[in-house]
Parts: sequence; structure tokens; C-alpha cells
Amino acid sequence: MDNPERVRGMTQIVARGPSPGAPTVRVHDPFTIVIFGASGDLSKRKLIPALYNLHNAGCLPERYAVIGLSRTPMGDEAYRDYSIEFMREECGYKNLDASHPLFQALHYCPGNNDDADSFQRLRARIEELEKRKHLPPNRLYYLSVAPKFFSIVVEQLKAAGLIHDPRAETAWSRVIVEKPFGRDLKSACALNAAITSVLAESQIYRIDHYLGKETVQNILGFRFGNAIFEPLFNNKYVDNVQITVAETLGMEGKRGAYYDTAGAMRDMVQNHMFQIMCLTAMEAPAALDSASIRDEKVKVLRALEPFTHDQVRQNTVRAQYAPLKKDGRHEPGYLQAEGVDPRSTTESYVALRLSIDNWRWAGVPFYLRHGKRLAKRVTEMAVQFRHPPMHLFKQATGDHCLIDDRPIVNQLVLRIQPDEGISLRFGCKPPGMQMKLQQVDMDFLYKDAFNLRSPEAYERLILDALRGDASLFTRSDEVEYAWRFVTAVLDGWQASGEKSLPQYAQFGEGPPQARNLMEGTHRRWRSIEDM
Ligand code: BG6
Repeated sequence: MDNPERVRGMTQIVARGPSPGAPTVRVHDPFTIVIFGASGDLSKRKLIPALYNLHNAGCLPERYAVIGLSRTPMGDEAYRDYSIEFMREECGYKNLDASHPLFQALHYCPGNNDDADSFQRLRARIEELEKRKHLPPNRLYYLSVAPKFFSIVVEQLKAAGLIHDPRAETAWSRVIVEKPFGRDLKSACALNAAITSVLAESQIYRIDHYLGKETVQNILGFRFGNAIFEPLFNNKYVDNVQITVAETLGMEGKRGAYYDTAGAMRDMVQNHMFQIMCLTAMEAPAALDSASIRDEKVKVLRALEPFTHDQVRQNTVRAQYAPLKKDGRHEPGYLQAEGVDPRSTTESYVALRLSIDNWRWAGVPFYLRHGKRLAKRVTEMAVQFRHPPMHLFKQATGDHCLIDDRPIVNQLVLRIQPDEGISLRFGCKPPGMQMKLQQVDMDFLYKDAFNLRSPEAYERLILDALRGDASLFTRSDEVEYAWRFVTAVLDGWQASGEKSLPQYAQFGEGPPQARNLMEGTHRRWRSIEDM
């Protein structure tokens, strides 16, 4: 919708009841975490800080050990100093002290992901720490390594005797697998087959960090914890759903080389955006356990019939950001970015029109779009409701009609980031003698309502894995159904034989071609700029 007149903050919603102070969720059993890829960016930027915050929030038991494993030769002391230095310089943590229990629990074991001797040394290290710190053999392995190593590391762990029988009652072994989980249906199935030949599904935690985000989890809470909106979430009342993940970042640093082998569809749609879509569209789970939640998400993905090549042409738009030359500012386009093939047809933007062919959603288009270098960094899910059955206020409003001749739009927006919140748009009569309606927004903002820090996604996910709760991780069939659909789109693009992609202006709304997905309807993309 283009620039409606907005009256913000009509109602300030304030959280009532006792403010949750002390954490209610804790890990009770002592454990050891091994981080593979310990000198990598994810480990330094997200994982060690997440453990530090979990410790400070009182979520970890008194005794535990963290072992970083990567190729760089160094000792415990050097790894600690290196982690502290990085958190201080790059993550903005002040007053870090090496005597903090998290850093005291931090150890290092140099090793290769594919070398049996390294795993024997790792085993000796784990056993020595378990003995010295009186830790039971509860072990969480975090695979923050290149995807080609996922199955190799799992096999090496098994061969070194580092994986328990999943039925063991005295101790557990769990493995967190980072993304990307495959690059198409075939490779995802092969990876599932390889790791499930070593581990039970209950030991595998496939991570999607979007599921760890507070506001993504709240989609379920909002839908199924309230009686007022859920009855409207279906094809009788909803006109369309729009899911947007817009980023201002492009191929900064060394990202281009990886990204050019993936693209927007693999990097964001197959995982994060499909998760948001599933949570928006799924039926209420029988209970809040991982099997029930994941069963319902899988049903949504199964209802996405893979596109034929023709449907790919009609229902998808892909593009790349163009070079920017404006007001003395020069920014390379996608094709000029470091590590990107100048003839690449990898998309930095994708928009899709999807239909979830089930009883609840048949006939309601789900529009998904994601791109790099767009107007704003914003992620949201917007449900646009149908118009009232007749336009009673059309004549009464006359010239004062809000948006051209179009009636009031009812929209419910779950804002996932930043400025997390929920807003409801409806028509309201402003004070005055005329009977006219004006569109207003009722806004709820997390930061106004709760005076609490939201845990980082990785904090929540690591905590859940330590507690053995897989609800916020993806199951093998979920990943495969998501790839089934995405692979059909990728195949359609490949078959189109296009040698180049449309270009879009940096820091704008994306390619104009995305509008074609709504052509012939009253629908409009929400303006990213105005979000
Ligand atoms: C990652 C993608 O999974 O998610 C990145 O690989 C993307 O390309 C990132 O930028 C977005 O995550 P967030 O949490 O910043 O929205």
C-alpha cells in the first residue's frame, strides 16, 4: 500500500502481570560442548557470546566444558584470549574478564575435520575434562563447518566412539548441524541419508536461526494463544499474505564467493522464509512438542505443489542489484562484487507467488520476497484481509476517500525485525462533522511493552539443544519438502536458459518486475520504504 495516512501509537499496549525476572528455563545436567570450526566467524561472533550470555542469565549448570576445535594450532590460554579479544573488539562487549566461569570453561583442541587422529585426541581431551570437572558424558557437538564436512565429522565422531546409543538413559550425544543443509533436493536427501545412518533423528538438530528469533516464535503464540485472530486466518477472510525479508547489506567482505554459489532462493527462502510461512499457515499442533509442531509444518510444505517450468515463469521474479552511481557515491553492483562471476545468473533478489493448496488456504496467494541492497533492513509478515462485503462508506466519503477510490485496508503485520512488534490497520472515523474513514494503525512494540532483553536466536537454540528440545529445529522430512519445492524453481530457472537477469536499483523497492506477480488484481506489495 502506498503511503497511507497513518496515525501511530493509538493504543499503547503494556505487558501486565509479574515481569519475568529470573530465567525459568535452565539446563540442569552438566555437559561438554564441542564447537567444530572454532576459529570461524559464527563461532566467534555468535556461539561463544551466546554461551557467555546464557551463563550470565543463569541458564547453565555450575559445571560444564566448552571445547573449540579447528586447524589453527593454539592452546587453551591463547584461544581464551583470542575469544575475549574478539568479543571486545568486534561484538562490543566491555569489561570481559578471563576469570569469568565461561572463559574458565573454554578449552581448545587443534584438529582436522576429516582426520581420525584428531578425533582420538578430541576424545582424550573430552574424557580428561569430564574426569577433572566431574562431568557426565553428555555431549553436544556443534558443526559450524563447511557443508562438505557435515557427514564426515559425524562419521568420525561415531568411529571415535564419541556418539552414544540414542536409547542410553545415562548420557546423551546430540549434533547441531548448521546451514546450508544441501543445495537441492538430491543433495539434501543424500546428506540426510548419510547422517541418519550414524545418528538417530532425535540426536540431530538442524539449525535455522530464524526459529530462535523471539518474534518468529511469537507467530505461534499470537495465533494459537489468542482466540480473536485465529478464526480469521483462512481463505474466507484473508485476501493475501506477504512475507518480506529486506536487507540493505550486499556482498560486503568476502561473502560474494559463497553467495554466488547459493543465491537468494537457497540462502533465505528454502529455510528462513519457508519457516515463517509454515508458522503462519500451519494448523494448531496437538501439543507444543517438537513432533506435533513439526508434523504441522510439514503438512504446509506438502501442500506446496512444485511448479512446472511454466509456473516458474509466471510465479517467480529474480534479479540482481545494479551498480549505484548517485550524488558522488559509487557502489559496485552484484556482478562487480568480489568473488562473484561477472556473468553470473545468481539472484540477489527473489519474489514468489505461492499457493498452499489445502482446505484453509486454497485461493489465497502467499507472496514472498527477499533481496540484498533494498531500501531498508526489515523482516515482516503481513496478512491482508478481504474488503467488507459492500463499500458502505464509499459514497459518504466522496472526495475524502482515503486512498483513491479504494476502501480501507485491514492488515495485520507481525514485524519480526527490527522494532519488533505487531500492528493492526483498520478504518476509523476521525473527529469532525463528516462521516469519513481514515486508516489508522494500532501498534504494539516489544520494547515499550516489555522491559526485557530479547535473547539472541543462538542463545535460545543452544539452550534448547542442551535441554533436548528439538521444536525449534528442522526435521529431515521438513527440509526435504522445502527443497522439493525450491529445486523445482531452480530447475525452471536453469531451463529458461537466461543468460542475464534483470537489474534493480540499490536501496529501493527491488525490481519493478515483482509487480507483475500481482498484475490484474487490486493487490500491491507493501512499500519497503514505508515499513
Ligand atoms: C543468513 C543468510 O542465514 O541469514 C544471510 O546466509 C542473511 O545471507 C542472514 O543475511 C540474515 O539473518 P538476520 O538474522 O540478520 O536476519
